[in-house]
Amino acid sequence: MNEHKTIITTDLAKAINPLLKSYSPDAIYIVTDAQVAHHCLGAILEMPEFKSSHVIMIPIGELYKTIDTVTMIWQYLMEHGATRRSLLVNLGGGMVSDLGGFAASTFKRGMQYINFPTTLLGAIDAATGGKTGINFQGLKNEIGLYNPALAVVVNMEFFKSLDDYNFRSGFAEMIKHGLISDTIVLEQTFSFDLEHLDWKRLKTLLEQNLTIKQRIVEADPHETGKRKALNFGHTFGHAFETLSYSMEKPLLHGYAVMWGMVCALYLSHIILKFPKEYLLQLLYYAKKYYGQFPFTCDQYEALLDLMKHDKKNDSDRVNYTLLAGVGDVRINQTATKEQVIEALDFVRENGI
Ligand SMILES: NC(=O)c1ccc[n+]([C@@H]2O[C@H](COP(=O)([O-])OP(=O)(O)OC[C@H]3O[C@@H](n4cnc5c(N)ncnc54)[C@H](O)[C@@H]3O)[C@@H](O)[C@H]2O)c1
Ligand SMILES: [Zn+2]
Repeated sequence: MNEHKTIITTDLAKAINPLLKSYSPDAIYIVTDAQVAHHCLGAILEMPEFKSSHVIMIPIGELYKTIDTVTMIWQYLMEHGATRRSLLVNLGGGMVSDLGGFAASTFKRGMQYINFPTTLLGAIDAATGGKTGINFQGLKNEIGLYNPALAVVVNMEFFKSLDDYNFRSGFAEMIKHGLISDTIVLEQTFSFDLEHLDWKRLKTLLEQNLTIKQRIVEADPHETGKRKALNFGHTFGHAFETLSYSMEKPLLHGYAVMWGMVCALYLSHIILKFPKEYLLQLLYYAKKYYGQFPFTCDQYEALLDLMKHDKKNDSDRVNYTLLAGVGDVRINQTATKEQVIEALDFVRENGI
């Protein structure tokens, strides 16, 4: 079930050569968007293996993570002779790898695909672990399937053109990995200087993060139990993200997850006695690096409604992944409506 390989590299050609030799596709199709292409496509196309690749350009952004964009990819593949022995390459952030992975997994009952994540969020989270999918009728990732990439190749160079906003979005998932692992990883992550990036340190953190995620995914590829740890902060987070689509500036995934983690830690504190010091540390960190919580109490009902539709629920019950301590994950937890509102008030009013 797991990817055959996740490679972190500064030498793309060296990483990709043996992979393509062993798979030897009859044609290569690169799915990307114009912004990613501007910064990263050149480095791919200059490798002899990719020179004659087809490039499928899809529109930029989450609003296009739809069946229409998938149809566009299927159409291109059909019209340009793709077969089951062809290879799809997703070059981009999580939007591209989720959508491209879904298009590849369903074309002719499935062709192989490789992910080249170009955002930190893609590298840490979206590109690994085999979840692919699209948004449908206003709900996040409502349609999709589990099908891991043939390989995930992480080239640190790509992250250098990311703006702060996208960098921090990805970094939120690193904080999540710290919270669900142990206090050492958490402290190392909190102490990474987001204002003066140390790329060497980032690579070490990234390796650590990929190991954490891989270990969890391997133990539970289809998310029946242990993998739910990775959903920490995401029940609130997905509701924040979805509601923000109707706002002038929609929230990036990691920003929504950061606020979602603060809410989930608050619930953890009142339900499972999670230590207050780490709750406050996360709140202050979120305020310092992730700006203002963007919702008002008028939006609570809409948020509660969105949480009810979360894929992580069983029937009518909203399931939360909570923590009894750092690294002490408790899945399938429930909370009353009053507790959830209290958690939202906690972030909105910024503290206890
Ligand atoms: N499958 C999973 O397990 C999983 C996990 C987490 C998130 N996701 C999904 O990932 C998506 C979010 O991913 P994302 O944050 O990477 O967003 P994204 O893919 O939309 O990329 C964000 C923006 O950054 C630009 N960009 C990408 N790489 C760049 C680079 N190197 N330099 C400059 N600009 C660049 C893109 O053009 C885009 O405008 C969401 O759809 C979310 O649901 C999936
Ligand atoms: Zn996430």
